[in-house]
Amino acid sequence: MDTFYVTTPIYYVNDKPHIGHAYTTVLADVLARCHRAAGDDTWFLTGTDEHGQKVEKAAIKNGITPIQQCDETVVRFQELWKRLGISNNDFIRTTEPRHKDIVQKVLQDLYDRDLIYKSEYEGHYCVPCERFFTEKDLVDGNCCPDCKRPTEPIVESNYFFRMSQYQDWLIQYINEHPDFIQPAFRANETLGFLKKPLGDLCISRPKSRMAWGIDLPFDKDYVCYVWFDALLNYASAIGYLANDEMFRRYWKGCMHLIGKDILTTHTVYWPTMLKAMNLPMPKTIFAHGWWLVGGGKMSKSVGNVVNPMDMADRYGVDAFRYFLLAEMTPGNDASFSEESFAKRFNNDLANDLGNLVSRVVKLTVKNFDGVIPEAGELEDIDRDILAKTQAAIDEFEQNLRQMKLDRGIAAAINVVRETNKYFEVTAPWALAKAGNTARLGSVLYTATHVLAVVSGLLFPVMPEKMADLRRSIGLSEDAVNKTDLASLKNGEDVKPGSKMTDLPPLFPRIQLEPCCAEKAAAPAPKKEEKAKDAKSKKEKAPVELPEGLISIDQFFKTQLKTAKILEAEHIPNKTRLLKLKIDLGTEQRQLVAGIAEYYKPEELIGRTIIVVANLAPAVIGGFESRGMLLAAKNESGLKLVTVDGGEFAPGTPIG
Ligand code: ME8
Ligand code: MG
Repeated sequence: MDTFYVTTPIYYVNDKPHIGHAYTTVLADVLARCHRAAGDDTWFLTGTDEHGQKVEKAAIKNGITPIQQCDETVVRFQELWKRLGISNNDFIRTTEPRHKDIVQKVLQDLYDRDLIYKSEYEGHYCVPCERFFTEKDLVDGNCCPDCKRPTEPIVESNYFFRMSQYQDWLIQYINEHPDFIQPAFRANETLGFLKKPLGDLCISRPKSRMAWGIDLPFDKDYVCYVWFDALLNYASAIGYLANDEMFRRYWKGCMHLIGKDILTTHTVYWPTMLKAMNLPMPKTIFAHGWWLVGGGKMSKSVGNVVNPMDMADRYGVDAFRYFLLAEMTPGNDASFSEESFAKRFNNDLANDLGNLVSRVVKLTVKNFDGVIPEAGELEDIDRDILAKTQAAIDEFEQNLRQMKLDRGIAAAINVVRETNKYFEVTAPWALAKAGNTARLGSVLYTATHVLAVVSGLLFPVMPEKMADLRRSIGLSEDAVNKTDLASLKNGEDVKPGSKMTDLPPLFPRIQLEPCCAEKAAAPAPKKEEKAKDAKSKKEKAPVELPEGLISIDQFFKTQLKTAKILEAEHIPNKTRLLKLKIDLGTEQRQLVAGIAEYYKPEELIGRTIIVVANLAPAVIGGFESRGMLLAAKNESGLKLVTVDGGEFAPGTPIG
C-alpha cells in the first residue's frame, strides 16, 4: 500500500479566501480522493498561517486584536472548504499549542547545535510577502523583487539560521532528484536562484517592533519569523516530535502543492530547514500557476477578486470544481472569466455529458421500463466505443500521474463526445420506433457502460453530481463509490436487469450572467431595447448625472412586481437555498433564493413578496431561477420586503 500525504499552503488570515486559494485546495482534494479510491494510505492537510506582520496589520486596520482577526477569518476558510466538499483530514492553525510547541522545540534544538546564531541585521522587509531582502535584491529603488511593492528598511539585532552552509548540498539534491520540484522548469528556476550565493536566513523579529508570533525559547524579546514558523506546519500537524509513529507513517509520502508565488520559501528555505533537522526531503513540491483575472493577478487593490462562495452559490459546487480543474493546466497560468466558465460548463457538462445522460436514461426508461438491457450481440461500432472507453481510463491514469489533470478530464469528456456521435450513427430512437429491441438493447448497454466509466473517472472532481449519475444508471450503492481505476477497468459495474431512474437535468445550461447580485440586477439590454435607448438618446439631450445617481428611466428598467409564493422547498445539500414557485399574475415561475437560514418553507407559502421580474435567468444550486426576491439583511438576520398592509394581486407593478 502506498502512502500519500498531500498539503496545501496554509493561507494567511489577513483576508477572506478567493478562487486562487480555492484552486489549490480543490486540486489537493481531487488528488486525495483519487489516492483514497486507489486504496492508498492518504492524509490531506490544509490550514491557516496566523502569525506575522501581515495579519497584525489587518487586525490593526480592523480595530481588533490579532487573535480576533485569526478567529474571525479562519471561519471563512473552514466554511468555504465545507461548502466545496473538501475532504481534508486535518486543519492546522499556527496559533494552536500543538504547532507552537513544535516550533519552539525545533528552534531550541537548532540553537543548541549552533545552527542558529545572533547577529546584526541590516536589510529590507516586504510585508505582503513576509520576506527579507538585501539591498541588491531590490528592484526599482526599494521594491520587492517578487511582488514589486515597496519594502521597509530594517536595522536591528536578530537571530539567523545557517542556511548558507546547505547551498551546495541543495543544488546537488535538486539535480539528483528530478521529481523533487515540479514542473521541471520550476526546478530550474530554483537552481537559477541558487546560482547567487545563499545567505543565512533571518528567523526572528524583535517584539519591540512586531510582537505577533511565537516566542523564541532562548530569547523572550523576540518572536519567530513567520515563514520559519509556517513551513513547520507540514511536520507539526502529522506529529513531528509528538507522535513519531504517525509522523513516520505519512512524511515519506509527502507532496506539497503550492502556487508559484511561494516557490523559493518551499524549495530553498524548507529543504535546508529539514536538512538541519536531519529529516528526509518531501517527495514532491509541485508549484502551479496563477489564476489571472482580466489579464492580471487577482488582487484586492486591483478589485478583480473572485469570491469562490459566490461561484458555488451561482453555478453549483461541482460545476465550479470542474471548471477549476478542467480549465487550468497545472503549472501554467489560466484566465478566469464568467464567459469562459459558462462556455466550458455549457460545452462539456450541459451539451456533452448532460445530453448523453438524458438520452441514455430516457430511452431506457421509455423502452425497457428502466431495466438495463442485456449487452446482446455487439457490433464493431459498439466494440470501438468500448475500446475507446478503456483507452480513456489509461489516458486518465497516465495524466494523473504526471499531474496533468486537465488532460485526464479531457480524455473522459472526449469519450462522451464520441458516444454522442455513436448515437447519431446508431440512432437508438429509430431502433425504438422500428421495434428493433435487441439492437436497441446493445446500444443502450454500451452507452451505459461509457457513463459508468466516465462518471467514475470524474467522481473525484464532482463527487455529488457523479454519485447522482451513478445511482441513476442503476449501480449498486457499493459500486457508486467504487471508482478506483482498476475497478473501472474491470468494468463489472453495469448489471443488466438493474433499474435506472430518471433524474432532473444534471447540468442545466447557463445563460451567461454576472457574478455578483448588483451586476445581476442590471441585465444586458435586449436588442430592441438597445435600439430604443439609442433613439431616445438622440431625442433627448443626454443629462449628465452626478456619480452614483440614476435617472428615473434607468430606475424603471428594473421591473419590480408583487408575487405570491405558491410553493417552497429545500434544495438537497444546499443549506442556504430555497426553491420557490411564485405567481406573477400572468405566469408562474421558479425562483431560487438564499433565504433558507432565515425562513422555513412552510412559513413562506401564501405570502406576497417583491421580486425583480425582468432579471436574466440564472442557474442557482442546480435549478433555474427566474427573478430575484428583495430582502433586507444585517448581522441579526434577513427579512423579506413586502407591501405594507392591504391585498395586492400578484403581478402588481411597484414604483
Ligand atoms: O503565501 N492563483 O499564503 P497566501 C492561483 N501563508 N493560486 C493562488 C492565487 C492565484 N491568483 N493566489 C493565491 C501564503 N493562490 C503563506 C503560505 S505555506 C507554509 C505558507 C494560492 O494566503 C496558491 O496556492 O498568500 C498560493 O501559493 C497561496 O494561495 C498563497 O496563499
Ligand atoms: Mg500571498
